[in-house]
Amino acid sequence: MTASLFENIPEPRLSKELLGPGTAILNGFALGVEGDLIAAFNAVVERAPFRHMVTPGGFRMSVGMTNCGALGWITDRTGYRYDGVDPESGLRWPAMPGVFLKLAADAAEEAGFASFVPDACLINRYEPGAKLSLHQDKNERDFDQPIVSVSLGLPATFLFGGLERSDKTVRVPLVHGDVIVWGGVARLRYHGVNPLKEGVHPVFGGYRYNLTFRKAG
Ligand code: SIN
Ligand code: FE2
Repeated sequence: MTASLFENIPEPRLSKELLGPGTAILNGFALGVEGDLIAAFNAVVERAPFRHMVTPGGFRMSVGMTNCGALGWITDRTGYRYDGVDPESGLRWPAMPGVFLKLAADAAEEAGFASFVPDACLINRYEPGAKLSLHQDKNERDFDQPIVSVSLGLPATFLFGGLERSDKTVRVPLVHGDVIVWGGVARLRYHGVNPLKEGVHPVFGGYRYNLTFRKAG
């Protein structure tokens, strides 16, 4: 590998100590594959467009969502779950692109989680004002596998809490190309995203996107 591959990658903006064990922020980690990542992203969202799902309690989510991979995360009035079929189209979710798989595995490994093979990628789209309330990712079968989360487009403030909803949160600024990983003792940490601020990103316009990789099944 040559140094030029990394010349655009910024210095870490947060210390490991602040984030805690089992949690890593890899600033700019996705920038090395940015072009392939964007092409693959566009192909996926063309086949499985964003939609606003409804929570079991009947609320429309402010974040638009879609999926790729063998399993997709969905919510409706009957609950949160993974399903191999897109309920909007009746078709299987688009396959996980190779560049997604490799990026997720490489990021997990960099964070200390070897051999991560995700079977689900939830893709979130945030418009200004859209947010994700504090929650745990716990619809997956195996909590031994980490979560890998890739930020694209507009910047956002990610919130990392503890294992209890009432634990204090750390604010993590995330920009295009940043990747965060949490697993092991951190796997069930509460997390969320503050309401998106308006802006214009050169590639993704007025939106923030997030790819969340999981081993769900
Ligand atoms: C999630 O928690 O599923 C997504 C987090 C994010 O958009 O950064
Ligand atoms: Fe989550």
